[in-house]
Amino acid sequence: MAIRVDQTAKTFTLDTIKSTYQMKVDAHGNLLHTYYGARAQGTDFSYLISPADHGFCGQPAGCGDDRTYSMDYLPLEYPAHGNGDYRIKALRAGAAGQAPALDLRYHSSDVTAGKYALPGLPAMFAGEGDQDVQTLRIVLKDLYEEIYVTLLYGVFEKKNIVTRTAVIENKGSRPVCIRRAMSMGLDFPENDKELIHFYGKHAGERQFERTALLHGITEVSSTRGMSGHQHNPFVVLCDKSATEENGDCWGISLLYSGGFRIQTETDQLDQLRIVCGIDDEELEWTLSGGESFATPEAALCFTDRGLADLSNTIGAAFRTNLIRSVWKDRRRPLLVNNWEATYFDFTKEKLLEIARQAAEIGLDMFVLDDGWFGKRDSDRSGLGDWYVNEEKLGCTLRELVDDIRDMGLSFGIWIEPEMVSEDSDLYRAHPDWALTIPGRDPVRGRSQLVLDLSRAEVIEYLKDAIDRLMHSADIAYIKWDMNRSVENIYSAAAPSLSQGAVKHRYVLGLYELLEHLTSRYPDVLLEGCSGGGGRFDAGMLYYAPQIWCSDNTDAVERLRIHYGTSFGYPMSSVAAHVSVCPNEQNGRRTPFQTRGVCAMQGSFGYELDLSALSEEELEEAKHQIACYKEHYELFQKGRYYRLSSPFTNRSFTAWSYVSEDGSEASVSIVFTDLYGNPKPLRVKLKGLKEDAVYRLDGKEYTGGALMYAGIVLPVPECDYDSYFALLKQCGALSK
Ligand code: DGJ
Repeated sequence: MAIRVDQTAKTFTLDTIKSTYQMKVDAHGNLLHTYYGARAQGTDFSYLISPADHGFCGQPAGCGDDRTYSMDYLPLEYPAHGNGDYRIKALRAGAAGQAPALDLRYHSSDVTAGKYALPGLPAMFAGEGDQDVQTLRIVLKDLYEEIYVTLLYGVFEKKNIVTRTAVIENKGSRPVCIRRAMSMGLDFPENDKELIHFYGKHAGERQFERTALLHGITEVSSTRGMSGHQHNPFVVLCDKSATEENGDCWGISLLYSGGFRIQTETDQLDQLRIVCGIDDEELEWTLSGGESFATPEAALCFTDRGLADLSNTIGAAFRTNLIRSVWKDRRRPLLVNNWEATYFDFTKEKLLEIARQAAEIGLDMFVLDDGWFGKRDSDRSGLGDWYVNEEKLGCTLRELVDDIRDMGLSFGIWIEPEMVSEDSDLYRAHPDWALTIPGRDPVRGRSQLVLDLSRAEVIEYLKDAIDRLMHSADIAYIKWDMNRSVENIYSAAAPSLSQGAVKHRYVLGLYELLEHLTSRYPDVLLEGCSGGGGRFDAGMLYYAPQIWCSDNTDAVERLRIHYGTSFGYPMSSVAAHVSVCPNEQNGRRTPFQTRGVCAMQGSFGYELDLSALSEEELEEAKHQIACYKEHYELFQKGRYYRLSSPFTNRSFTAWSYVSEDGSEASVSIVFTDLYGNPKPLRVKLKGLKEDAVYRLDGKEYTGGALMYAGIVLPVPECDYDSYFALLKQCGALSK
């Protein structure tokens, strides 16, 4: 049983194969968080709490003068504002017009089979074979108002995931105003941990940073209306000594694509709290009587076996129980995208030339990027006018697609539905459909404005535009882009008191559109994108099985971007392309082979003018495509191991894939520095079977030797040389 409720001890214990999570209702009806860590059954962990008078710690209602009882130091499951807890909170709400304050006490609970759903929001789900998945509902109620908070827990026992959501409900007649509603909070008895988070910028996303947690508040967040390039809604807490192979690690992923806030606080007793949820900077969400508000879901994972196990557990669970697309199991097409080949400057002939070459070297799909619609010869116009520019193409979209299909390729296309250019027919007809503040010059990003997705008529227009596009030709893939941060969040259609809800309603509108697209056209492969990886989050994965990882296609910078991304997301979701040299973003020159090795780390493709490649490069491309196709299952579904870090190892970056049964593996290495009189370099492989014998480069090694002694790397022959090899089990040690 994944969920155990002990009516006498009043404990709720959630067990997965590697973790135990526990809460307890105390004598005053407060819901305490008593434990989340390595699986340890049969214990009431409230013995860890040592009541004492810590001074300046107030007592909540009904606790008399017991100065040892205070919300200011107790470990709380869902801490609310206004009740004597001065640490970071999960919830700030109250009757509208009053000071926000809640005193939430236990009301009721139930356990059901299967996983709760969250209409309108991404949520993990139980698959057909997941009989072990259960849901726990704990209802808390304010002492004074008819305000109820339902805490939802989805326990994936075998997959080692616990999901959390809170639903706030106003059952009274007075309106209730929510100013903060986090998806989860966790309290730990001591701060013996470090935080790993992933910061970045456009063309440099998800850079790894591991840091101690100060006394006071540490925050990673986005107020951009999108998860953003600058921070990612996935973090890890881990033991100070945790490594790839060992140590306690807690992963927290928010299934949300809008702004977010993740905060930690080390308090006066050195206890650690973490909260995670939507950006609440401008949040003012009013609930009338009978209405409720659901926070996005957070997915939690604990392992005591280090960071590699954490990443592989989350990656596998997201692949099977978050990504819905049929393409998670189908073979995805290997594609060429024309963006870096042509930008806005293309003709039908040029596109067909690239497509022809793509077909010849064994690719499966041609993707037409930005510039095919409205008046769109630069990024200053046309967004919103989702009809094909036949003058530019010299034909209809159907004719172009038919020509491409005749070459044996399927066809994909780029769209950016959330945006509008001021120089567009859509903006001229509906200027008020853009988010702008009346009387103020709007903030422009990439010369474009953001459509007000909180408005039903905007959503209807976009659904219709998507349907028209989908019916205009045989489209097998959509790249959904979003090229600026959201700002000037004022909806011309919302009453002035509801403006604080627009930011979140925008994201709900986005999800409605994505749901429309994916449910109407389930066979279409959707690729998420936001100026590269500006919206690389678990919320998007619910709709899109792959996301364009970065606008930076340089193989060497991608080493760092892929490394960071691999901590919280399956590598099959990382779209990665071989691009031109010198690289368009940073001018670096890398061998064609290295660009292939690096792009094969994710969902593989090309993004350059194939018709301009040399014979030698075309041969290498054919070889790369054949190799990826041959080992597709290994690259897409194998366990992924970071063998070295590009943030600490100057000489090389190495990674590997190992098949589920451990009988096959790949090892990839990109050399990042050259030396005169070079020292031998070695790397230790991971995840192999100790007693198995593997064949590598014509020689035989035991798994134990490869993992504990390692392999000796070849000496690189040029800048950014690379090495790629496959290992196959060819025997086993006799016992
Ligand atoms: C940003 C994307 O990340 C690029 O790949 C490309 O699609 C451009 N937008 C097109 O404007």
